[in-house]
Amino acid sequence: MSKHESAWLHVDGRARFTEDLLRDHPHALHAYPVQSPHAHARVLGIDTALAEVSEGVVRVLTAKDVPGVNDTGISRRDEPLFPELVEHAGQAVVWVLAKTREQARIGAQQVKVEYEPLKPILGLKEAIEQGSFHSAPIRMSRGQTEQALENAEHLKEGELQIGGQEHFYLETQATLAKLDESGTLFVHSSTQHPSETQDIVARVLGVPRSEVIVQCTRMGGGFGGKESQANPYASVAALGAKLTGKPVLVRLSRAQDTTLSGKRHPFYARYQVGFTSEGMLQALKLDLYADGGFSLDLSEPIVSRALFHSDNAYFIPHMQVTGRVCKTHKTSQTAFRGFGGPQGMVVIEHIVDLVARTLNLPPHEVRQKNFYSPEEFTHYGQQVTDAWKMNRVWEEALLRSHYLKRTEEIRSFNAVNRTKVRGLAITPVKFGISFTMTAYNQAGALVLIYQDGSVQVNHGGTEMGQGLHTKIQAIASRTLGIAPEKIKVMPTRTDKVPNTSATAASTGSDLNGGAVRNACERLKSRLLEVAAKHHQLEKEHLDLKEGFFWHQGEKIWTFEEAVKAAYYQRIQLFSDGFYATPHIHWDREKATGRPFAYFSYGACVAEIELDTVTGMHQVRQVDIVHDVGESLTPAIDRGQVEGGFIQGMGWLTLEDLRWNDAGLLATRNASTYKLPTLMDAPEVFNVHLLENTPQEGVVFGSKAVGEPPLMLAIAVREAIKDALHTLTGHFADVPSPITPEVSFFAAKIKKAHVLG
Ligand code: MTE
Ligand code: MOS
Repeated sequence: MSKHESAWLHVDGRARFTEDLLRDHPHALHAYPVQSPHAHARVLGIDTALAEVSEGVVRVLTAKDVPGVNDTGISRRDEPLFPELVEHAGQAVVWVLAKTREQARIGAQQVKVEYEPLKPILGLKEAIEQGSFHSAPIRMSRGQTEQALENAEHLKEGELQIGGQEHFYLETQATLAKLDESGTLFVHSSTQHPSETQDIVARVLGVPRSEVIVQCTRMGGGFGGKESQANPYASVAALGAKLTGKPVLVRLSRAQDTTLSGKRHPFYARYQVGFTSEGMLQALKLDLYADGGFSLDLSEPIVSRALFHSDNAYFIPHMQVTGRVCKTHKTSQTAFRGFGGPQGMVVIEHIVDLVARTLNLPPHEVRQKNFYSPEEFTHYGQQVTDAWKMNRVWEEALLRSHYLKRTEEIRSFNAVNRTKVRGLAITPVKFGISFTMTAYNQAGALVLIYQDGSVQVNHGGTEMGQGLHTKIQAIASRTLGIAPEKIKVMPTRTDKVPNTSATAASTGSDLNGGAVRNACERLKSRLLEVAAKHHQLEKEHLDLKEGFFWHQGEKIWTFEEAVKAAYYQRIQLFSDGFYATPHIHWDREKATGRPFAYFSYGACVAEIELDTVTGMHQVRQVDIVHDVGESLTPAIDRGQVEGGFIQGMGWLTLEDLRWNDAGLLATRNASTYKLPTLMDAPEVFNVHLLENTPQEGVVFGSKAVGEPPLMLAIAVREAIKDALHTLTGHFADVPSPITPEVSFFAAKIKKAHVLG
């Protein structure tokens, strides 16, 4: 059983998200931003006089109110909280605090800002042409790529544009901050990274971190969008609370959220690929450009991860990949499920399809024959020792989906149908697990046993719907040998476990679970000692499980009895725990090492039907085989696979970010930004978790699951391309997303012709 630990609260509405805390703080002030209409402009003057006398307005926050540093940038100081230079349309210039949200909104309208508009850079190609980059190129290479390309049997080149993606978490960015009587700031934030939020708030306020406590009870979704992007709003709320002495709530409307916060990076790729007549990849030269937006944020590690995954599951003997972060006058693009990996993978899958189509070979065969074998190394020097797992998930996906039989069925269908074309594809996922910044791969825990035998677990990870707290509860329950109901996982707080890493890179349960297990093992060992002494038995002959101490198959004592006895013997009933991922290292200069603890594997078969009149498609069937090791909580892992896949499918086929000529986001809401709904889900959706593959070295043999399934959706893109190929007889050289519009034009469908 693995019911989500907050399932009931979610269903009956008791679960509290940040804004719900207003119930306990009815007098909290509401903050509202004044947003720039220009994408690039100098702020010449700000007149707040009218706003200050507007009804209900308590304070107008500007740069001169900042006691510390007027900047929330995490990689460098390039994100002024109150900017003098506006660098994206919608950027917040001033914040107004008022007694109600409506009063704050009206107050914000009274603020007069004088701008001197400057010329913005709004697209990737423009940025490349003008040399507008945030940082130096990032390179990874192996072999003699130029030479190998020259000598290749076949050479193809091309380019690919890949769109961004709005996180569209259900809970928009939100923070409620308040002061306690000693002046300590207590910040409830919807953040994936409480420790960094604490750091940035302390920096803005000019106080030590010990003066700031950040708590995250839960998020209504993060998806990477609250890894760094929660910080400015937490800073505004904290600053407001500090200056007014009142609790302050920042809660963005959807349109504010989409125009203020960063998204998945759009990418532009240029490639040259060399291959044999049998379809073996020989050499790849790849240049990736990411639209980083106005500030650096996490763009460098995101581009690195794109480079790390530009091989996906394929061994390419000669490889030279380069990545650059372009600076544009857009929101600062940020982490989003997969963290650049998906963009890298879309490119290589597009290329492998090109190779297959060029040679007129079945794409699934070309894919499989290029898989790594266990003795081979990636282009960054990590051996893919368990590459056999890739073949296993692949074979299972082919079998379970009846791939070959359906290829025939689709061929027959397509032979007789004029207005509907079906397409089928299978694609692999190999995704590296660990933060590529080695230092981030650490976690802490604090586990408390009370005298009645009830337990509280504190750890550094945050809950965003992915079920981390449920997994932590399962880990503590298995280690301590007591029922999960006895264990309460506490809200994440920086004063319980300090210096934590973001809950990101899918490492939440590996890292925090490792730390919680460590703490629980220490406690278990102490209790076993107490029990051994009490019963005059050897500790090694005792076991603690199901709430009892066992000796030779007999229950001899309860957990509660041991806890009580330990207390009276003055044995410590709480423990910290720590975990640091072993055996990983990364040399940034040389771009080699073993950055990942292990790889996550999956394969996905997708069948679609394309309507040649409208360009719309339907996903008829999806069969996924995914490796999560020994699942801690199978229902949750299955949910992650399904949800990740649907989110990936949205990115690749529906979600289309559009900006107007002035650089203002035009798709600000669900009315104009098409999100996947239940109606878009596959008609038949089979998810199978690979069996009997415990992952060595990870807590209870489990494996990370959060991000990798998103990339399974590349099969849908490739299936649409398969249908387009059938229709046109050519390699479908289409950008991402393949919206109905793109399919329509790619198929060069002339409505009149088809209908006539
Ligand atoms: N699942 C839900 N329901 N909501 C989320 O916000 N975020 C994803 C993934 N799954 C997310 C989610 C992202 S981007 C990551 S990195 C992981 O969960 C983080 O959690 P984990 O490390 O505990 O898997
Ligand atoms: Mo996930 S993009 O690593 O928060």
